[in-house]
Amino acid sequence: MATGMFRAASQHWHGRALRVGASPKIRTMLFGQALNKSTTLTTGQLQRTLRPVLCASFHSSPFRSTSDSGSNPLKEPPTITKESITVGGKTYETDHLTNVTPTILEKTTRQLHRIPTHPVAIIKDLIASAFPDFKHYETFSPVVTTKENFDDLCFTSDHPGRAATDTYYLNEKIMLRTHTSAHQLQVMTEADKVLVTADVYRRDEIDASHYPVFHQMEGAQLFDAKTAVEDIRKAIAADSTAQFGSIHTTDTTVITSQNPKQDCHDEAAMLATADHLKHSLNMMVRKLFSHEKDLQVRWIDAQFPFTSPSWEMEILYQGKWLEVLGCGVIRQDILNRAGKPDKIGWAFGLGLERLALVLFGIPDIRLFWSQDERFLRQFEPSKIQKFKHFSKYPPCIKDISFWTNSDFHENNFCEIVRDVAGDIAETVEMIDEFTHPKTKKRSVCYRINYRSMDRNVTNAEINEIQEKLREQVVDRMKVELR
Ligand code: DAH
Repeated sequence: MATGMFRAASQHWHGRALRVGASPKIRTMLFGQALNKSTTLTTGQLQRTLRPVLCASFHSSPFRSTSDSGSNPLKEPPTITKESITVGGKTYETDHLTNVTPTILEKTTRQLHRIPTHPVAIIKDLIASAFPDFKHYETFSPVVTTKENFDDLCFTSDHPGRAATDTYYLNEKIMLRTHTSAHQLQVMTEADKVLVTADVYRRDEIDASHYPVFHQMEGAQLFDAKTAVEDIRKAIAADSTAQFGSIHTTDTTVITSQNPKQDCHDEAAMLATADHLKHSLNMMVRKLFSHEKDLQVRWIDAQFPFTSPSWEMEILYQGKWLEVLGCGVIRQDILNRAGKPDKIGWAFGLGLERLALVLFGIPDIRLFWSQDERFLRQFEPSKIQKFKHFSKYPPCIKDISFWTNSDFHENNFCEIVRDVAGDIAETVEMIDEFTHPKTKKRSVCYRINYRSMDRNVTNAEINEIQEKLREQVVDRMKVELR
């Protein structure tokens, strides 16, 4: 589990940590999927991926609750046909890049961060309480433009995060947001202290700490560039929460050409902004981990397209360094675009599930999506309580082997598993791989662990799912079963 937690580092893979001497293994984890899995699907392959999922609809979605639908378009069941997708009350045309599936679209109606007794919402509320005078937005539709999610935030046109293997597209220009930063520009036009909480979507592998939907919280604060040094000095001096328990911070970050100050920034103003950022976030985690007597925090250098310099915060929790958030000094281009050229500011983004998993002691990320009363009834607003296990049902393990082709990408395989098996798929793991010496064809074998959170699964039922999976894998990925 501990390793799983670290692998969840990909929850903010839009950036990367700059670490000198990190072991290759750790480096891979920190770089997350962006640098490991940068294959882009060909148009043909995407169409093949898409074909079988079309024409499904959600009119009888089990997730629709009569009490909270109605006027809230986000709660309206999405529909998907070959030509168009309707979600949040709006309709979008599909095209060659469409790869979003019914299973994923259905999740857009859940809004876990707005259910007050849900662990994700409890963590959100605790974090928000550390930023009491910030304007908090939490009802933005997950459907955004590629401009909002990438271009406005200075992502290069070849950034791996844009790959269709990692991102859900409704069409070439419209996608499910991969991070809450997609709303940064818009909210900064409206206020100087902002928080955004939302569900975010990334195509991913399948295990106890990865799920294609999770929740993030974004924060930003702007200062008048001319008076920032003095304003920040006063603000930190006046901060009464600064006395809140002991916290040991290690900060070995250095501003170098690798993680530079922006040319347009006055050095003193930038340093003051960075101080305020780290101070605010230290106080926030102090509040969140109030039960930890001597909280250890460390700051490391990082890179994000939308901040410079940039950092990541890690905390030592039960003997392991846990990556908590990414942050930095906002790129001035973005502030200029927001109509705030005279401001300087900081921003941060964090994954809520990662924190909820450790703070509540929740063993599997799928539990967050459980509708089982034994899960939901355990929690109360604003309280962190340890999760009490309810009986674990036995797994059912099945393997599938096939010859891959040049278009093959593991995330596409996992997507099919999710479509066919839903949350019963607990883990998907490659257990064997070899290349035939003569034909040079590559064979892979995946082991799928099927297990339900709330009932026993039967072998007959899983056999049926596995059979369907075998068919779909051939049909959608054009691979040859072995
Ligand atoms: N959006 C980033 C991600 O999901 C996280 C992040 C990093 C947000 C730095 C920020 C920031 O606002 O300044 O990978």
